Amino acid sequence: MEAVELRALAPRDLERIREVDRSEHVRLQYVCRDGALREEVVDWDVPRWPEHGPDDFSVRGLVERWTPLLSEGGTLLGAIAGDTIIGFAILRPDLSPGVAELVALYIDQGARRRGIAGALTDEVERLARLDGAELLYVSATPSESAVGFYLSRGFRIARRVHAELAAQEPEDIQMEKTLSNHFWDKRADRYDAKLHKGPNYAARLERAAAVFRKTDSILDVGCATGEITLDLAPHAEEILGIDHSSNMVTVANARARERNVGNARFEQMEPDDPRLAEGAFNVVTAYSVIHLLDDVPATLARLRDLLVPGGHLITETPCLGDWNFFWRALVRLAMLVGAAPPVVCLRVAELESMIENAGFEVLESKVHNPKSKQHCILARNR
Ligand SMILES: C[S@@+](CC[C@H](N)C(=O)[O-])C[C@H]1O[C@@H](n2cnc3c(N)ncnc32)[C@H](O)[C@@H]1O
Repeated sequence: MEAVELRALAPRDLERIREVDRSEHVRLQYVCRDGALREEVVDWDVPRWPEHGPDDFSVRGLVERWTPLLSEGGTLLGAIAGDTIIGFAILRPDLSPGVAELVALYIDQGARRRGIAGALTDEVERLARLDGAELLYVSATPSESAVGFYLSRGFRIARRVHAELAAQEPEDIQMEKTLSNHFWDKRADRYDAKLHKGPNYAARLERAAAVFRKTDSILDVGCATGEITLDLAPHAEEILGIDHSSNMVTVANARARERNVGNARFEQMEPDDPRLAEGAFNVVTAYSVIHLLDDVPATLARLRDLLVPGGHLITETPCLGDWNFFWRALVRLAMLVGAAPPVVCLRVAELESMIENAGFEVLESKVHNPKSKQHCILARNR
């Protein structure tokens, strides 16, 4: 197979998109209703782009549409085999503040299923992050192949639809992917220094190990630099650490290599990521993360879905709602000056009932180490 090189192309190379045969037969498409995707059987032939055409979907029309984007800071990335362009992606770095757009992604029909779309998307994400984007937005063709690809890369239905793009292509599925989380990304390099691996830390690992079986698959939510995840790894068959901060995940993967831990891996994901399969895990751990979630009840319900029946949830959470006025005021002040991330002020009783309402039975609920201020809950998927 011929080697494929990815490289940024000059705006004048836009003309060469005619080399890419984007034709496809589509049998299934998605429609988005009330925030959920529904499949629809269809039967369309998507032809090659004609040279000229009555609408935007000709080589001429697309060159005219995309040239201004490239002169305003956009990037055209080509996948080149020999002298031919077999795929390309276009990145617009500034759709709105902090949001980049994947404007186009096309692979020649003879070069599909070789990982080229994935490699182009990885590069687009890297460039968007370098430009400071926190979110990558795409108005995706509704075909099964396009939407399925984006779902497999961690995109989800856009929480905030870009009205102009949605109006331009009303059939498209509006999708987005979180690229980074500034608060935690900025702390990734020095996060470990705060982790005191003293007797209380050892006791925390022992409590988890008592729940794990050697054959278990574990999910560690909000794994940060993966130190805890890697210490838990020897007690299970495999462990996946997820975190929405890409920098944390980069450090965690480097730590796994340094420490030579073969059964742990790390991915930049949130718990609602469609790449996580329902019923795939025996235990979910969530240390110091529940109070940081946007929607605690919805995430707890999702964590339950990710567990096998009878699987366990282990959480340690600072329940700020039960702290005294002084400590709560201090945390609010820290949030105001950006020294703490936005946190949810949960009471222990409230957290327990959220966990129960999500379909768990609470087996234990106590503070093991008063100095840590972490309330520890062990629960079982009913
Ligand atoms: C306080 S740190 C805890 C890290 C580690 N579990 C520990 O106990 O040391 C919280 C971590 O959760 C991550 N996080 C917060 N909200 C998240 C979410 N919705 N999805 C994934 N990770 C999240 C943050 O990026 C951060 O790395």
